[in-house]
Amino acid sequence: MQATETTTRLNKYSATLTQEISNPAAQAMLYGVGLTEEDMAKPQIGIASTGYEGNTCNMHLNGLSVYVKQGIQANNMVGLIFNTIGVSDGMTNGNDGMRYSLPSRDLIADSIESVVSAQWYDGVITVVGCDKNMPGAIMAMARLDRPGIMVYGGTIRSGHYKGKKLDIVSAFEALGKRFAGNISDEDFKGVVQNAIPGAGACGGMYTANTMASSIEAMGLSLPFSSSYPATHEGKQEECKKIGVAMKRLLEMDLKPRDIITKKSLENALTLVMALGGSTNATLHYIAIARAAGLSLTLDEIQAISDRTPFIADLKPSGKYYMEDVLEIGGVPAVTKYLYQEGLIHGDCMTVTGKTVAENLAEAPDLNFETQKIIFPLSQAIKKTGHIQIMYGNLAPTGAVAKITGKEGLRFDGTAKICEHESEIIDALAKGEILPGHVIVIRNAGPKGGPGMSEMLKPTSAVIGAGLGDKVALITDGRFSGGTHGFVVGHITPEAFDGGPIALVKEGDRITIDAETRQLTLHISDEEMAERRSQWQQPAPSFTRGVLGRYIRSVKSASEGCVTDEM
Ligand code: FES
Repeated sequence: MQATETTTRLNKYSATLTQEISNPAAQAMLYGVGLTEEDMAKPQIGIASTGYEGNTCNMHLNGLSVYVKQGIQANNMVGLIFNTIGVSDGMTNGNDGMRYSLPSRDLIADSIESVVSAQWYDGVITVVGCDKNMPGAIMAMARLDRPGIMVYGGTIRSGHYKGKKLDIVSAFEALGKRFAGNISDEDFKGVVQNAIPGAGACGGMYTANTMASSIEAMGLSLPFSSSYPATHEGKQEECKKIGVAMKRLLEMDLKPRDIITKKSLENALTLVMALGGSTNATLHYIAIARAAGLSLTLDEIQAISDRTPFIADLKPSGKYYMEDVLEIGGVPAVTKYLYQEGLIHGDCMTVTGKTVAENLAEAPDLNFETQKIIFPLSQAIKKTGHIQIMYGNLAPTGAVAKITGKEGLRFDGTAKICEHESEIIDALAKGEILPGHVIVIRNAGPKGGPGMSEMLKPTSAVIGAGLGDKVALITDGRFSGGTHGFVVGHITPEAFDGGPIALVKEGDRITIDAETRQLTLHISDEEMAERRSQWQQPAPSFTRGVLGRYIRSVKSASEGCVTDEM
């Protein structure tokens, strides 16, 4: 009797299909895919994989999904694998494919929401690997609010060439070196051919590892999910253990919105700040919060940055890779240290069925004598977070800067306008980018791009050309987690909507002040008004298809670029 009651409770969604006489067609289909009469009473778990063959971030995910399914079946549930789309930023950076990258996040969320809702799954495991796939998966889990766990595909191992460790950013920086004549053809080829040794997400604290580690801190993946590299045996073990965790979640009826709270969002963003993570986290956590029915503002993110020291010597601005973090105790060890220092809320629930504090009690301790990746708070690289929310007459509704402190805290220069990202590559090749320039890349916002492209190719090329500490770059687009240098992105309102960035002229003086967090265009209010009166909104570059729909539905970067709100 007890067992029957429990079973009924655990399969409360799938029972709509499997235990009502009114759905013989659905039952026939489930028998058709191989389920037995006994299976009909079991909970059905959707396993959403963003796996596909075309890139290293996702190439192994369908294989991991099979291990997840084994773990689900071994725990008396039915696991059913389905796929969603995915877009790899490594493949799309620097070309028009990047327009589809951020929109893919919302398509992934829509796909998972659609399949799990339509097929009446009782829970969902998302097996995801690249930058947009993770926030897309979490947004879907928040919308669905059925028991769910995210499995990260894992970070990549580093590549090697001539004794140097390499990753995806090495390939872009090699391009800048080529423009500057600082690399031979043979070495350029050598870097490109050896930067990526196999499966896994880009290896620094770029967007994928930023999202994976902070989602783990938020409690929606198992401890160590973000630390095991893709090819580490621990990754397969994690997949097989998922079944036990999912069963427990169903029994506890513990759902994503019980886990995603204001406090757990703060935990996630605290980890982003401490580790020097990607600026994209601001967009994604605003969107995740909204999917969970919560609000998260840029000013709240700034408050977390204000109280969180930046303590990790990780790429892109530092020395180490994510694979190195596992050696020192993984993300749990880092989170435990932050918890001990009072920076992490311990009472948030997690997918283990335990609180953050209970999980961390089992985590290893960081050893500050032997490891040099994470610094003690007293020796922080920067006393506050590297992500700074900027305002000023160039960004009235906010912008996001990445200030690690290594670039300096103020940049005063003259505008060098690029109406499209590609123009900067031409300008660099012609030697037209000079010390003291503030490169302005506009019409790159969510609507204007469309799709709010990442500027990894321009910023890497600038670094590779030896101009990293001599120029700054501002944009209504966004940055890859691999970007470093003096950069401000997510400028709102974007140029397409008539934001002041649309009104900047070549040679205008611009100041970026990271201490006052002001982004200032040095023209009078009268001049600004005059230029505005002359401005005309450009025609949208797409009116149909995914991008046409995106232009019509997307909110601003300060609102997380969500697409499912009125
Ligand atoms: Fe997929 Fe970097 S391009 S993780």
